[in-house]
Amino acid sequence: MKENYEARIQELLGKMTLEEKIGQLQQCGPSLVGAFEVSFEELLNMMFDGRISEEEFGRLMSTAEQDFHEDDLRAGKIGSYNGVGDAATANRLQKIAVEETRLGIPLIFGYDVIHGFRTVTPIPLGESCAWDPDLWKRTGRMAAQEASAAGVHMTFAPMVDVAKDARWGRVSEGAGEDVLLNGCYGAAKVQGFQGEDLSNDDSIVACVKHFAAYGAAEAGRDYNRVDMSPQRLWEEYLPSYKACVDAGAMAIMPAFNDISGVPCSVNRSLLMDVLRDKWGFEGMTVSDANAIAECVNHGIAADREDAAVQAIHAGMDMDMTSNVYTENLAELVRSGKVDEADLDRAVADILRTKFAAGLFDNPYQTSEEREQNTILRPEFRILAREAAQKSIVLLKNEGNLLPLSENMKIGLAGVTAFQRGEMLGAWAVGANGEDCVSLAEGLVAAGAEVVSLMAGKDAENPESGAKEADISDEISVTEMNISGLAGNYAALSADCDVIIAAIGETKDQSGEAASHADITLPDEQIAMLKGLIATGKPVIAVLFNGRPLAIPFVAENVPAILEAWHPGVEAGNALADILFGKVNPSAKLTTTFPYTSGQCPMYYAHINTGRPGGKAKFTSKYLDTPLTAVYPFGYGLSYTTFAYRDLAVQAGEDTVTVTVTVSNTGTCAGDEIVQCYFRRHTGKRVRPVKQLAGFEKISLEAGEEKTVSFWITREQMGYYDAEMNFVTEGGKFTFFAGGNSADCLDGEVDIF
Ligand code: BGC
Repeated sequence: MKENYEARIQELLGKMTLEEKIGQLQQCGPSLVGAFEVSFEELLNMMFDGRISEEEFGRLMSTAEQDFHEDDLRAGKIGSYNGVGDAATANRLQKIAVEETRLGIPLIFGYDVIHGFRTVTPIPLGESCAWDPDLWKRTGRMAAQEASAAGVHMTFAPMVDVAKDARWGRVSEGAGEDVLLNGCYGAAKVQGFQGEDLSNDDSIVACVKHFAAYGAAEAGRDYNRVDMSPQRLWEEYLPSYKACVDAGAMAIMPAFNDISGVPCSVNRSLLMDVLRDKWGFEGMTVSDANAIAECVNHGIAADREDAAVQAIHAGMDMDMTSNVYTENLAELVRSGKVDEADLDRAVADILRTKFAAGLFDNPYQTSEEREQNTILRPEFRILAREAAQKSIVLLKNEGNLLPLSENMKIGLAGVTAFQRGEMLGAWAVGANGEDCVSLAEGLVAAGAEVVSLMAGKDAENPESGAKEADISDEISVTEMNISGLAGNYAALSADCDVIIAAIGETKDQSGEAASHADITLPDEQIAMLKGLIATGKPVIAVLFNGRPLAIPFVAENVPAILEAWHPGVEAGNALADILFGKVNPSAKLTTTFPYTSGQCPMYYAHINTGRPGGKAKFTSKYLDTPLTAVYPFGYGLSYTTFAYRDLAVQAGEDTVTVTVTVSNTGTCAGDEIVQCYFRRHTGKRVRPVKQLAGFEKISLEAGEEKTVSFWITREQMGYYDAEMNFVTEGGKFTFFAGGNSADCLDGEVDIF
C-alpha cells in the first residue's frame, strides 16, 4: 500500500460511537417506493429467480422512485450502497454522508460491473478466450472509467472462481477451468479497475469474488456445498484469488458456499488465517448478498444474532444487505458476546479501503457532466469491438467455408441473430440492450445482403422485425418455423449462397442461479439445424452461450462453427469482421466442451487413475460416451494454419526453459496462442496428466516463424504432500508445447 493511513484510522475510531462503527459495516440497497413498492433485496431476488430480467432490474433501479433510507444515512448508520449507478444520486447521497453526519465519513458505492458498465464487453468466459492480459486490463480500465463516471467506487469483480463444471451457470462470469489462467485474468482486471493509483477519480476498488472455490459447487448446482481435500483447494482453487491479492485488490467477497462444512461467510481460517495472516491482505471483506443471514439456513448459526457473532469474529467486515450487524451488533458488544476489538478491526479495514480509494480527500469523484461525456464514448465501442473479435473462437471450418466473400447472399436463422439485448449476456446490470448491434445488424452494416429465414422477422430489413423477444417469444418463433420447417427454409433460402444459424442459450440461461442439469442444445434448435442442412446450402453455426455446451451433433454435421459467447455491445460488428475475414479469429477455449452432460465435471488437468481409460473393459471410462472432449481446453482455429517444431526442454537449477518454434504455414497473417504444459510423472500425491505452465500470443505473417520460450520455476511445479507441506522436489517431467491441450509436442526431462 502506497500510503499509511493507520494514524488517521485510529484517530477516527477513537471518535466513533458504537453505532457509528456498526454503520460503517452496513451496505444498503435502495428500496423502491411508489407504484412498485419492494426492497432492494426482494428486487434482487426477483431478478435471480427470473421474475424480472436483468434489464428490467436495471430499468426499475434507474426509473422507479427509490428510498435510500436517508434518515439512517444521516444518523451514520450506512457505510455503503450497492446498486447506485448514476452520478446525481451518488453525489446527493455522498453530500449527506459528508456534510450531515457527525463525522463526515464518505460512502463507498459498490456495483456489479462484471464485463463493462454501459459499454458491455464479452462475458468474462468469452474474454478469457483471448488469452490476453493486456486486453483484460484495458477493458477493466474502460469499465472503471465509465462506472466511476456514474458514481461507482467499487466493482464486485473480478470473479476468479475456477469452474470445471459446465452445469454451473456462473461459469460465464470467470476465466474458465484453469487456475493459472484465472489468476492471470484476475490480476489483469484488478490492475485495470484500480489503475495506476486507486485514489484517482477514474479508479475503482476491485472486490475479488467469490472467496473461495464457489466454482466447485457439487453437481454444478449453484450455492451447493464444496467439499474437497485441503491439498486440492490450495493447488487448484486458492491461487487465483491469491494472484488478485498480490495484484493489490482492496476488497474480497467471501463466497455463498461452505467449504467442508464451514460457510465462507463465517470461515475464520479462510478470512483471517489465509487471507490476512498468510497473504497480507489489508483491504476489506464484503459479504455476498444476504449471505451472513443465510448462515441460519446453512445450519451453522442458530439465528440472525448468532450469524452476526460468527461473521464478525470470522473477519467478515461489510454486510451486504442482510442487516444482521445493524440489528444485533450493538447489543452483542455491550453484553460482551462480541469483542469490540473484532468490530474495530472490521471498521479499520473499511476505512482503510475508503482512504485508499481517495474518498476522504475527494468524496465526489464524478459529476453529471463527466458522466455524460464518458458513457459509451466512441473509443469505448472500438475497444468493445476489439475485445469481441479476440474472444470469438473458430471451432470448425470445413473446406475453408469461412471467411465469406462480401458479395454472398446470406440466409439468417435463429431468433438470437436478431436480438440486440441477448448480446449482453449475464450480469450486465448497468447496460441497455438497445446499445447492442445484433448479428443481423452487423451483417447488414458490413454491406451483406441478408435474408431472414425466421418467421416474424422482416427479410428486407432484419433489424426492424427484431423486437426484443423474451424466452417465450423465442420458443414460439422457433416452433412456427418447425411446422413446415424444411419446406420453409428451402423456399426462403432458395437464392442464398450460405446460411448462418444462431444457436445456443439466451442470456438468462447462464449466470447466477442458472445451473443446468442438461447442457445439450434444445430439440428445437437441432430440428432447426436439420432443416437448414436439408436445404443443401452450406451452414455456419454461430453459438451464443454462457457456458460450454455439449454439441456433438453440431460438431459433426455443421461445416463451420463460431463460438461467439455473449459478445457485448459490438457483437454484430465483431462477428461480421470475422465472418468476412476482416479479422482473423485467434481465440482459444478456456474450458472443455464435453460430449454430454454426464461427463461433467470435465477438465483437461485430470489425474490418470490406476486404470487410465482405454479400450479394455476394466478401465476408467464411460460405455456410452468418448473419454475425450468434443473440443478440448485451449482449442481454437484460425484462417491460417500453424505448425510446431523443435521443442527443446532445458532444466536449470530452479527453472526449466521450454522453447518451441511456431510457423505460419497458411496464406494469411494470424495470431497464435502458444501454450506450455507440464506433467510430473511421480509425486507424493498423484499429479495431473497436464497442467498449464504458461502461454503467449504471437502474431505471424504468412510464412513467418518465431521461437517462443517459457520459463517454468520449481515453485510453479510444486504441490502439497499428504501433510500439506509444499513440495518442490525433482523427478521425471514431461513438458508440452502446442496450440491446444490435446495436441502438443512433448519432451521429457529429469529434474534434480
Ligand atoms: C452475487 C454476487 C454479486 C452480488 C451483488 C450476489 O447474488 O453472488 O456475485 O456481486 O449479488 O449484486
